[in-house]
Amino acid sequence: MRVPLLDLSEQYRALADPIRAQIDEVFASQSFILGPKVAAFEEAIRSYCSAPNAIGVSSGTDALLAILMALGIGPGDAVITSAYSFFATAGCIARVGATPVFIDIDLGTYNISPAALERYLTESCRRGEDGFLREPQGKIVRAIVPVHLFGLCCEMNAIHRISERFQLEVIEDAAQAIGAEYPFAGGTAKAGTMGEVGYFSFYPTKNLGAAGDAGMIICRSDSFAQRLRSCRQHGMEERYYHDFVGGNFRLDEVQAAILGAKLPFLDAWSAARRAAASFYHEEFKRLGLTNRLSLPAEPYRDAGLPNHHIYHQYVIRTSQRDALRDHLTRNEVGTAIYYPLGLHEQKCFAYLGYQAGDFPETERAAQESLALPIYPELPRDAQRYVAETVAEFFA
Ligand SMILES: Cc1ncc(COP(=O)(O)O)c(C=O)c1O
Repeated sequence: MRVPLLDLSEQYRALADPIRAQIDEVFASQSFILGPKVAAFEEAIRSYCSAPNAIGVSSGTDALLAILMALGIGPGDAVITSAYSFFATAGCIARVGATPVFIDIDLGTYNISPAALERYLTESCRRGEDGFLREPQGKIVRAIVPVHLFGLCCEMNAIHRISERFQLEVIEDAAQAIGAEYPFAGGTAKAGTMGEVGYFSFYPTKNLGAAGDAGMIICRSDSFAQRLRSCRQHGMEERYYHDFVGGNFRLDEVQAAILGAKLPFLDAWSAARRAAASFYHEEFKRLGLTNRLSLPAEPYRDAGLPNHHIYHQYVIRTSQRDALRDHLTRNEVGTAIYYPLGLHEQKCFAYLGYQAGDFPETERAAQESLALPIYPELPRDAQRYVAETVAEFFA
């Protein structure tokens, strides 16, 4: 049996008519950039997340770039993030001229470790007489970018407490976590709404995927939202008058129209992914594999939140990862490694001076993690085949 890592064709078949109708409307209007579809989709996301402001942008990467530019973060500044994430998180920090500072993860969740973060801020950083918090090389520590990896929120209560203590901006990378919920500050909050600002990616493989690149920023402050709107249009408020240097970070109408047609189904798709994750769990238990594999953690399961994990990816861990992957490939099961290197080990960041061994949990995740097929329409017999193929490997 062939089981791809991801197959979106059934989702498209089910929604082909409404999506085509939306695209027709865009062509009929001849409004292609920042028109009514973008405004409607921004409003839909704002309402879905209960966020004060939503700003459509051209990708998740451009969302972070625009946020950093709008905050005026640049040379002389440092921004903290997880050592284990998609490259864009750190790449954007470097692109604005700031210094990325990496922190290790908790292996159980793959998310930034609040304990390691607090240790770094307490032991390695100093607040100078000028009031700025500086890292050992003297860069001003401005912000932290927690990444809600694979659809599971970071421990935001702890991160919030730390950010308040050290007066850091919190920029949530919710690229993989739209709709994920977290028991925040005695209530419930959605990914992206717990810091000052957060962002999503609608890359086609995401739980809510466009037919190309697209992204969204959500933020609390109206004035910052205004600055971001201006930033996505080259820092322009009044046409052809530029108050600061921004970029072309605009979301186009076709993508917004498609995403708007898909958004009403997002929670059902995430629930289907969660059901598929539970099914894997039961299968691995039935096959006696729970002591051979580390299965995804669900730390907020008992908090009574439906979307405690949205399973953008279903990631297992084993010390025999590469051999298991080869076995699955031979048996036509699609897998992926997110990510084969910690960000601190990327060649382009050699100048930062990190060494292999600096972040043991990240490095272990990079060596042992393996993503198995997961998507809302994944048939149970395909999942059973995946689990049995894994069992065959360990037999
Ligand atoms: C964690 C994370 N951050 C940022 C991004 C960047 O988003 P995009 O691909 O839309 O630029 C992604 C997308 O893959 C991601 O997974």
